[in-house]
Order: sequence, then C-alpha cells, then structure tokens
Amino acid sequence: MMMKKQLCSFELHLFCYLLLAALVFSHNHGNPANDIVDIINKNRTDQKLPHLNDSPGLGCMALQYVELCKGNCTENNVVNCKPPDDDLTEVFAPNCGVELPTFGTITGHIVGCQRKYVEPSLAFSQVLVKDKKSLSLLTNKSHTEVGVGLVGLHKEPFFWCVLFSNGKTNSTFVLDNRGAGIKQKKGCYSGSSTPCSGGQKNSVVLFNIFFMCYVFILLFSIL
Ligand SMILES: *[C@@H]1O[C@H](CO)[C@@H](O)[C@H](O)[C@H]1NC(C)=O
Ligand SMILES: *[C@@H]1O[C@H](CO)[C@@H](O)[C@H](O)[C@H]1NC(C)=O
Ligand SMILES: *[C@@H]1O[C@H](CO)[C@@H](O)[C@H](O)[C@H]1NC(C)=O
Ligand SMILES: *[C@@H]1O[C@H](CO)[C@@H](O)[C@H](O)[C@H]1NC(C)=O
Repeated sequence: MMMKKQLCSFELHLFCYLLLAALVFSHNHGNPANDIVDIINKNRTDQKLPHLNDSPGLGCMALQYVELCKGNCTENNVVNCKPPDDDLTEVFAPNCGVELPTFGTITGHIVGCQRKYVEPSLAFSQVLVKDKKSLSLLTNKSHTEVGVGLVGLHKEPFFWCVLFSNGKTNSTFVLDNRGAGIKQKKGCYSGSSTPCSGGQKNSVVLFNIFFMCYVFILLFSIL
C-alpha cells in the first residue's frame, strides 16, 4: 500500500516535470534572429531613426559569416575572425542563392560571440552593441536593410552576426526561389520561416526520454 502511494506521488512529480519541460521547450521554438531584428528596429525608431527592412538574403549571409567564424572566439568573448572580402560575393552569396545582380552594398557588420547562451535582448546589449563603435554602426543613417544570423544553439560558444545594407527594399539580396533551396544545417537567420535548428533536436530527444520514463512508471504502477 505504502509503495503504491509513493509511486503515485512520484508519477505526479514526473507529470509536473513533463509539463514544465514542454513549456520550456515550446519557448525555444521561435527564431532569436528575428527577435534581434525587432530589438534593433525598436532601438532605432526610439531614436527617430528609420525602420530597417528585414532582409532574408542578408540574414542568410550573416549566418554564413558566423558559420565561418565559429572556431574563433577568444577567452574574453572577442571574435577573432576576418573572412576575405571576396567571400561575401564568392562564397556566402552563392551558398545562400542570392541572385548576384541583386547583390547590394554592405554598409556595416557587427559580429559577437559569447561562451554561454543569452536571451536576444542580452545578446543585443551585452554581445552585439556593447561599445561606441557598434552603437554608431547601429545608428548609421545609411542603412535601409538588416539581417541577423546566429549559430551555437547547443554547442558553445554562441556567435551572432548583424549585416546592414543600403539596398532598395525587396530588390537587393534577393534569394533564389525565396530561399526555398537553402539547406540550413545549423543555427538560424532572420526573415527565414525555418525555425532554429540545433537546440530543438536535443529537446525533442529529451522529451522522448521523459515520455518513455513516464510510460514505464505507469506500466509498473499498473502491474
Ligand atoms: C580563425 O583563427 C585562426 C587562428 O588564429 C586563423 O588562422 C584564421 O584565419 C581565423 N579565421 C578567420 C576566418 O579569420
Ligand atoms: C555610415 O555608413 C556609411 C557606409 O558604410 C559610411 O560611409 C559613413 O561614414 C557612416 N557614417 C557614420 C556617421 O559613421
Ligand atoms: C539602444 O541600444 C544601446 C546599446 O545597448 C543603449 O545604450 C541605448 O540606450 C538604446 N537606446 C534606446 C533608445 O533604447
Ligand atoms: C517587401 O516584401 C514584403 C514581404 O513580401 C512586403 O510585405 C512588403 O510590402 C514589400 N515592400 C516593398 C516596398 O515592396
């Protein structure tokens, strides 16, 4: 009798845990790169600067940028990485399927890394826009478009990249077939309808493990 009671309360605990896990994971399903774009735009419009268009082409190239720089975060969270200028047009754009005639001018970029994951608002203030140089880049009047990419969702360190351009809305950095052909393996970028990959796979596995445990305990308590 006693044993049975204990099992019941254990089940209850597990059930609560499951609910909690489901809640936590469902929070993770968004796209933090889009959140960064929103934060950038809020910061700019609060200062009466024009709103920037969210460009998936720029976002995809920002993801390429951080993919390349992935190994180069110093102990002090400084990105030590200088991709050759030609990489933008010769590697990043083709990888993303950016139609070359629509390749515009990059008016600025900000790259940051951090050992642990931080929420988008903290990534903005602590990783990306943490000094005068990046703040002046953020508030530059030449920009019209922005794209954000990030990697490292379940593998530290985390890398974020913001690319700005002065292109015409919707006619620069146009993605072939609206980006449908991009096989996004890691990370995520703004303007993409694909959710971040990385953390999610892990959470699904964890969820399944929790669920199996739950089913086993249920079986045992019935026997
Ligand atoms: C990353 O760091 C290594 C070692 O310091 C350096 O050789 C390499 O050029 C860096 N990568 C880029 C893309 O800058
Ligand atoms: C804004 O960006 C443009 C293009 O990169 C640059 O030429 C200009 O000097 C920048 N302006 C300021 C105030 O930093
Ligand atoms: C914009 O972001 C910078 C850097 O985080 C911050 O110092 C500043 O207060 C923000 N401005 C507004 C209006 O939110
Ligand atoms: C750009 O494209 C977006 C999404 O397709 C659309 O909502 C927006 O109106 C377009 N803007 C211009 C200026 O064409």
